[in-house]
Amino acid sequence: MDSIIVRGGAELNGQIPIAGAKNACLALMPATLLSEEPLTLTNAPRLSDIRTMTTLLQSLGAEVSALAGGKVLAASSHGLTSSRADYEIVRKMRASNLVLGPLLAREGQAVVSLPGGCAIGARPMDIHIDALERLGAVIDLRDGYLHASAPAGLRGARVPLRFASVGATENVLMAATLAKGTTIIENAAREPEIVDLAQCLRKMGAQIEGEGTATITVQGVDRLHGATHAVVTDRIELGTYMLAPAFTGGEIECLGGRLDLVGAFVEKLEAAGLEIEETERGLKVRRAAGRPRAVNVVTEPFPGFPTDLQAQMMAMLCTAEGTSVLEERIFENRFMHAPELMRMGARIDLSGGTARVTGVERLRGAPVMATDLRASVSLILAGLGAEGETVVSRVYHLDRGYEQVEQKLSAVGARIERVAA
Ligand code: EPZ
Repeated sequence: MDSIIVRGGAELNGQIPIAGAKNACLALMPATLLSEEPLTLTNAPRLSDIRTMTTLLQSLGAEVSALAGGKVLAASSHGLTSSRADYEIVRKMRASNLVLGPLLAREGQAVVSLPGGCAIGARPMDIHIDALERLGAVIDLRDGYLHASAPAGLRGARVPLRFASVGATENVLMAATLAKGTTIIENAAREPEIVDLAQCLRKMGAQIEGEGTATITVQGVDRLHGATHAVVTDRIELGTYMLAPAFTGGEIECLGGRLDLVGAFVEKLEAAGLEIEETERGLKVRRAAGRPRAVNVVTEPFPGFPTDLQAQMMAMLCTAEGTSVLEERIFENRFMHAPELMRMGARIDLSGGTARVTGVERLRGAPVMATDLRASVSLILAGLGAEGETVVSRVYHLDRGYEQVEQKLSAVGARIERVAA
């Protein structure tokens, strides 16, 4: 298992290219199951999770090839051979559950392993199941697998979601494209990844309105055709690198960055004293003189502050002037990075879903352990500003969602390297 060593204190200056969004691509790839014609995705991120989704689609009989060094994914599922998503793949990546809706719509049946819990929470699928049942599916849980069928096909319906779940919105949106009649998804998730999926489905011939709002209307069609679609910029990778100058000083331009993807996050960065400027190529961030200011943060569904940037923000607030209060409202167990930051000298009081962070002058490097994807990158950011050396172990978590972290950061002046165990 690789580790990453960060020697803190180097100012960062330069440009960092932002890749296509992992969480958009993981929903776009299963969309290929909705048509017999090829779907080509450009600006695809090169990540282990994308390779896992490729393996899953191939296990169903789809053809998926990575072209142009992995930045283009050519997928075709003209001849599916299975509608079973096996536990061995699903346990590696819960986003595998995004094949449930498309398989049901295309094949009238699907057997999908229940992912089980993960480091950040229990993450049940009750909202997915309720939504698909409203479209006429019959879903049973047997031996750890969801057995879903809709022999007569799916039919449009009103689908009120009890919570604006990203995954459930994506599953029911894809299923509704081939359902008979009209589906109205209420309290739908509004994340940019949902908008990207809807735009791609429309290119495939789907009839969709309202993506990006809380109400999405889908008029079912008989079949979808092929398309080519560019994956939207990764707003979480973007936010992660926008934070880097807060730890080190300097100025970073995030190429491909868009303000509309990170609105609520930028508000907090500016409140903390960072200067953000839109450029022709993206977003430029610099730290004004001195330490960041303390700010309070509450994580919410989009357009609120993203939970996937909470760990990175906490790491920054560890050296802010004053005390910040962070409230994690999306996942019940997403403070695993806090004890590791405390090993670096941070002052954090945890109680339930709330963390009180009292800023210290500077963190000190230490050996720390990554527990999940976003926690791992928060420790790397903390190491960039810390005194001495930080060694982050279990970085396989990182490779799931960040391509070439050490290359991108060392290109702007960071002292960072990956070491094999
Ligand atoms: C997506 O997960 C993202 N993953 C997550 O990013 C992200 O944190 C999350 O949305 C919230 O923004 C992908 O897109 C692949 P949810 P998802 O369904 O779809 C509860 C990362 O770091 N819930 O919106 O699984 C659930 O337990 C990852 O890239 C139910 O109770 O998130 C959670 O508390 C981590 N029942 C909340 O809703 C359900 O049926 C939000 O989950 C579904 C969800």
